[in-house]
Amino acid sequence: MITIKSREELCCMRKSNRIAAGVLEALARAVAPNVTTGELDVYGEELIRAQGARSAFRGYRGYPGTICVSINEEVVHGIPGSRRIVFGDLVSIDVGVIYGEFVGDNARTVLVGVCDAEHQRLAAVGREALKRAMDAARSGNRVSDISHAIESTARAAGFHPVRDFVGHGIGRNMHEEPQIPNVGKPGRGSLLREGMTLAIEPMINMGDWKVTTDRDGWTVRTRDRLPSVHYEHTVAVTAEGPPEILSLADCQ
Ligand code: MF3
Ligand code: CO
Repeated sequence: MITIKSREELCCMRKSNRIAAGVLEALARAVAPNVTTGELDVYGEELIRAQGARSAFRGYRGYPGTICVSINEEVVHGIPGSRRIVFGDLVSIDVGVIYGEFVGDNARTVLVGVCDAEHQRLAAVGREALKRAMDAARSGNRVSDISHAIESTARAAGFHPVRDFVGHGIGRNMHEEPQIPNVGKPGRGSLLREGMTLAIEPMINMGDWKVTTDRDGWTVRTRDRLPSVHYEHTVAVTAEGPPEILSLADCQ
């Protein structure tokens, strides 16, 4: 069942997501050569706590970090640690928080310094895919219209969305129905309705869509070791027109 949020619940979702967005914004600004992913994690924990929230990821199925940091060919769920960011890296940061009873979730890829032109194009396509996917999240449309927007944007650019991981409904739980695949034909799946809150998260690979999971049980990386980008926003479906983006920071 897909939960429909009331006005009050949407208000709470706005708060949780605003916190998640502010933390992501600050972390994105902290990304620089020589900074370790573990330092970003500690900073993330401080920022989240300072706002009276807690990480939605830590302890989730035993996940050991506050945030996820995935570099270059790492797609998602990279565990922060001693790795140092270097010039030219593509650093994907994913931040999920619980504030009150509701979860906020968002992610983005940061390019460090002067990046390879093809890496920049991959990142731009990832952002465009998220933008078009959000635009498809309108009441009356179906879940796979979101998927199709992602797939068609990525493929038109010669890139490939990850198939093994999906976006999701979100609310009192981080993962609610529906699942939102990053590929699909239009017009399939559940009908979208006002009050649904969705975390839309295209993961786009420069090469093949296939991924593997490390022996740490978490870190997902591309099989061909080509880079990948990840952009995620939590949105609320409105009565008509495009959705409200909930994961926006107060000051950007
Ligand atoms: N944004 C991710 C998701 O929607 C992050 C989950 S990381 C985990 O699933 F560690 F909590 F699993
Ligand atoms: Co998510």
